[in-house]
Amino acid sequence: MDLLDTINKRHSVRAFKPDPIPQDTLKKIVEGALRAPSASNSQPWEFAIVSGARLDEIKQAFIDNSTKMPNLDVPISLQYPEPWKSRRQAVMAGVLEKLGVARDDKQKRMEWQQFGFRLWGAPSCIYIMIDSEFHHADNGTNIWNIFDCGLIAQNIMLLATEHGLGTIPALMPVLYPDVLRSALGLPPSKLMVMGIPIGYEDDKNPANKFRSSREPFEKVARFYT
Ligand SMILES: Cc1cc2nc3c(=O)[nH]c(=O)nc-3n(C[C@H](O)[C@H](O)[C@H](O)COP(=O)(O)O)c2cc1C
Repeated sequence: MDLLDTINKRHSVRAFKPDPIPQDTLKKIVEGALRAPSASNSQPWEFAIVSGARLDEIKQAFIDNSTKMPNLDVPISLQYPEPWKSRRQAVMAGVLEKLGVARDDKQKRMEWQQFGFRLWGAPSCIYIMIDSEFHHADNGTNIWNIFDCGLIAQNIMLLATEHGLGTIPALMPVLYPDVLRSALGLPPSKLMVMGIPIGYEDDKNPANKFRSSREPFEKVARFYT
């Protein structure tokens, strides 16, 4: 597949078929992504590739914890000033519209949120982690670790697309990182950056008909000569 075609084909999948992905395919995707660049070639990333009964256990634990306050290892800003606020709202509204869920239908929205905690039905999830020793070296926060994880995340998602698989880069799977560390037997130093649920797209689910928009080139880029 042409690279631009692959970039355009990738989109966030919010409903997966339950069909399992062979471990060999998951390995090819993550191994292939490892050529991503990183600051000083530090390669701050580590991966937990989780499927099967272990993932079912995590999904259930997230549902059980879902009334608790999320506790992201890498916090996200709650304030979205304009124009970023409108872009966020457009995604949420766009997905709910495809699902036929009214804004004020609290029950349906809660059910949709719970489906998110079930990783939208994905049979596997690639969790991207960094180590707190590096992330908080010098008593600060090395944000370039997160940037580097973003670079490799896109490699993973593009390779998955080439394998005919859908993905979604998401914070929802890491909202309760202590639950993940406990289920995976990981120490507190392993910080959860994001999860990439992965699987075959359920193209019958209307949520997957949604496509996010992009600002045009002319609005975000300018040539200087
Ligand atoms: C860091 C990050 C976190 C995200 N977290 C979520 C999430 O928790 N739930 C969700 O539905 N989408 C999540 N997304 C997906 C974005 O909404 C999506 O990438 C954006 O709307 C663009 O759409 P596209 O991926 O289909 O091109 C996340 C994306 C990124 C990069």
